[in-house]
Amino acid sequence: MNKQNTARPVLTDPFGRRIEYIRLSVTDRCDLRCFYCMPEGYRDFEVPEHWLSFAEIERVVGAFAALGTQRLRITGGEPLVRKDLPQLINRLNGLEGIADLSLSTNATRLGKYAQPLYDAGISRINVSLDTLKPERFKQITGGKLDKVMTGLMAAKQAGFSPIKINMVAMQGVNDDEIEDMVEFCIEHGFTLRFIETMPMGDTGRRASENYLDLKQVKQRLADRYELIPGTMPGGGPARYVQVAGTDLRIGFITPISQHFCETCNRVRLSVDGTLYMCLGQDHKFELRSLLRAGISDEELQDAIQHAITLKPERHEFTDKPQQTVRFMSMTGG
Ligand code: GTP
Ligand code: 5AD
Ligand code: SF4
Repeated sequence: MNKQNTARPVLTDPFGRRIEYIRLSVTDRCDLRCFYCMPEGYRDFEVPEHWLSFAEIERVVGAFAALGTQRLRITGGEPLVRKDLPQLINRLNGLEGIADLSLSTNATRLGKYAQPLYDAGISRINVSLDTLKPERFKQITGGKLDKVMTGLMAAKQAGFSPIKINMVAMQGVNDDEIEDMVEFCIEHGFTLRFIETMPMGDTGRRASENYLDLKQVKQRLADRYELIPGTMPGGGPARYVQVAGTDLRIGFITPISQHFCETCNRVRLSVDGTLYMCLGQDHKFELRSLLRAGISDEELQDAIQHAITLKPERHEFTDKPQQTVRFMSMTGG
């Protein structure tokens, strides 16, 4: 057989970027209310009739996999709020071509679900955690820190590797805990990533008043620890260093101070079957109506290929901060 015919297909966008990572939001609901993410008292969630079913999700992810997508990350809202998530994972884990199946979670439900998720095929997880102080955790998220800690320890016990902690670093909110978080991650063998606040929706814009440029954080860490070049498996935008003499890798996710759009490799599928082409832009393509109208597998792949042609070059968080009306939990980070 001609070698060219057996090569893996590649989805390429108009800017020559290979799209090989899909972020799948399985719900827009969340059991926390991080002040930078979801508006207080927000209730305008997607109605269940519009949620893609597990079978529909499997079809869409299968079509992406057939087009060369190898990485799949499950997000929300909080993905574990979606009933029977391990069953969905099990189905997705069976899809040919998906080589990296991961989950981003707030960990509140991992005490119960860490083991079933691991058994279903998730091998690595990323956990949002902005503070180690219970009172502050309540102020930031409205929830209880001890549930998250129980969840994290259950995840460690279940064998997820690596476990990455995502900390949105905010001036005057949690920037006094940067070193504590480093020590916590060294102690438990977690990877630590700092994230810059993005002006997504009114919540994100308000929180951006506490924006902290991660260059400052890196400098502060370099004053205290010896930082050496580091790498970490993953498909995301973090740039890593390692703390010498430890296993700790620290990642910096800098959408504002040093954006990474030129290497963007991803699109997002929201719970209602909309493909969002960029976290910070409105370019999108609706798949649900096509799926429910009985589209064939071939037509579905054509639709995805067309959608990728709509991908914009980059976000405009700095030039047009008012532009993004979607807040983070709608598209899943
Ligand atoms: P790895 O494969 O482990 O590297 O995962 P990841 O970093 O892609 O996933 P995660 O869900 O942990 O993402 C962490 C955060 O990075 C998100 O919550 C966003 O804040 C930010 N982020 C991830 N992808 C993008 C992106 O494409 N654009 C922008 N602007 N921010 C992103
Ligand atoms: N800016 C940066 N990160 C955000 N997240 C939610 N809202 C924002 C924002 N405005 C992050 C959370 C979590 C992930 C789901 O998205 O910390 O890690
Ligand atoms: Fe990709 Fe948009 Fe994120 Fe830039 S902001 S990395 S283009 S999704």
